[in-house]
Amino acid sequence: MRGKLSERKIKKRLKEGLEIICLDTTDSTNNEAKRELENGRSAPLLIAAREQTAGRGRQGKSFYSPKDTGVYMTLCLPVNENSGSFLSITSAAAVAVCRAIESLGSARPRIKWVNDIYVENRKVCGILCERFGDFVIIGIGINLTTSVFPKDIKRAGALGYGDTNALVAEITNQLLSLKDCSYPDFIEEYRSRLLLTGKRITFIKNGGTLHGLALGVDESCGLMVRLESGEEITLTSGEISITEF
Ligand code: BTN
Repeated sequence: MRGKLSERKIKKRLKEGLEIICLDTTDSTNNEAKRELENGRSAPLLIAAREQTAGRGRQGKSFYSPKDTGVYMTLCLPVNENSGSFLSITSAAAVAVCRAIESLGSARPRIKWVNDIYVENRKVCGILCERFGDFVIIGIGINLTTSVFPKDIKRAGALGYGDTNALVAEITNQLLSLKDCSYPDFIEEYRSRLLLTGKRITFIKNGGTLHGLALGVDESCGLMVRLESGEEITLTSGEISITEF
């Protein structure tokens, strides 16, 4: 990690003020965020850590979070009835992270629905959004220089650079700017970054494994899929895998 996490250095780059907590280690920055909110801390609130000992991914999976070769952060934002659906917040967060990574010099990041971020066909970042009372908790884990991953993690990669404070600040700025952007703009950008369009995918629905062709996302960011039977369905949750990259 180039440059230790520093509240001061992150704050200097932020376009608006918010509370920041930087930690050497934690179980999970999302868990840490929930504990802070429970203890009365207000949002927006940013928590960033150099290591997670029990990083969480989607679908109850763990997220590999080794010390200093990645950065793990959570931004808590208040939500209200105008904030959009959970799926739309989640997908907008993916666009924000892509913009931030790209602005710091990476090749064009792409999105594997719903919100895994890939650079050059390798997953470099995972996002876990959670609702917690009147807040949305956006947890982001980025592989900066990790070169060796556990065997069960497929197609993982790293950005290859490590100005951590700049990256955390830029992601935060992009996430905070979401509320100023109109949703259709995000959908268009989401579509243009979608890694799946025209690709064969596999997913689990109602306990069965299905195969199909990803057609793109609809206005609500649901994934439209043409099944082998010819039937077209829209997925609003779940995990898909790409049969062929
Ligand atoms: C996934 O790939 O399934 C999502 C991974 C999300 C990982 C981030 S790291 C920061 C935050 N804290 C966690 O425990 N998880 C998220």
